[in-house]
Amino acid sequence: MGKVIGILAGSLHRDSFSKKIAKTIKSFVPQEGYEFKIIDLEGLPVYNQDFDTDKNIPWAIERFRADMQSVDGVIFVTPEYNRSVPSVLKNAIDIGSAPFGKSIWNEKPAAIFSHSPGNISGFGANHHLRQSLVFLNMPTMQQPEVYITNSDALFSVNGVMIEGSTKDFVRSAVNSYIKWFEKSYSTI
Ligand SMILES: Cc1cc2nc3c(=O)[nH]c(=O)nc-3n(C[C@H](O)[C@H](O)[C@H](O)COP(=O)(O)O)c2cc1C
Repeated sequence: MGKVIGILAGSLHRDSFSKKIAKTIKSFVPQEGYEFKIIDLEGLPVYNQDFDTDKNIPWAIERFRADMQSVDGVIFVTPEYNRSVPSVLKNAIDIGSAPFGKSIWNEKPAAIFSHSPGNISGFGANHHLRQSLVFLNMPTMQQPEVYITNSDALFSVNGVMIEGSTKDFVRSAVNSYIKWFEKSYSTI
C-alpha cells in the first residue's frame, strides 16, 4: 500500500510563505508509492482540555484528527513567531496529541522545514518544534537540516517558487526525507 505524507504549514496568513513552501513541496512528485497531502489548519479552535471529556467536540477537531490518522509521515513547514513556533501550529500539535494515549503523532516520521524572510531562517522555531516532537515520539530527520532564509524573495507574483539554488535545496531535502522515511518507517 502507498504511503501518504502530510504537509502542515504553520500559518493562516493569506499570503503565507509557509503555505507557498508547502505547495512547492507538494509539487515535487514523490517516488512511486508516495503521495503528498496538504493538511489544512484553518478553523481549528484553540485546544481546551474539556474537549477530551465532552461528548460533542468541534467538528474541525474531529476533521483534523481524521486527516492526520490518514497520513504515515509529516513534513512541518514552520515560520518563526517570537523565536518559537506560531500558536496555530502548536495548537494543532496539542489537539493531535490529545486525549492522552490517543495521539495521532505517535511514531510518524517527521521533517521540519523552517523559514523566515529574515536571515535566521526560523532556527528558533525549528528547534522548539524538535523539542515537542521528541515528546510526541516522532522520529525526526536530522540531516539535512532545512533552514530557508529570505523566504519573501523566493516566489513569483503567482506564488510559484522561482527556480534556483533554494528550490534545488528544498527538492533535494524532500528526496532525502523520502529516503530516510523508507528506512525509518521499516523499523517502526
Ligand atoms: C507575531 C509575529 C512574530 C514574529 N516573530 C519572528 C521571529 O521571531 N523571527 C523571524 O525570523 N520572523 C518573525 N516574524 C516574521 C515572520 O517570519 C513573517 O511574518 C513570516 O512571513 C511569517 O510566515 P508566513 O509568511 O508563513 O505567515 C514574526 C511575525 C509575526 C506576525
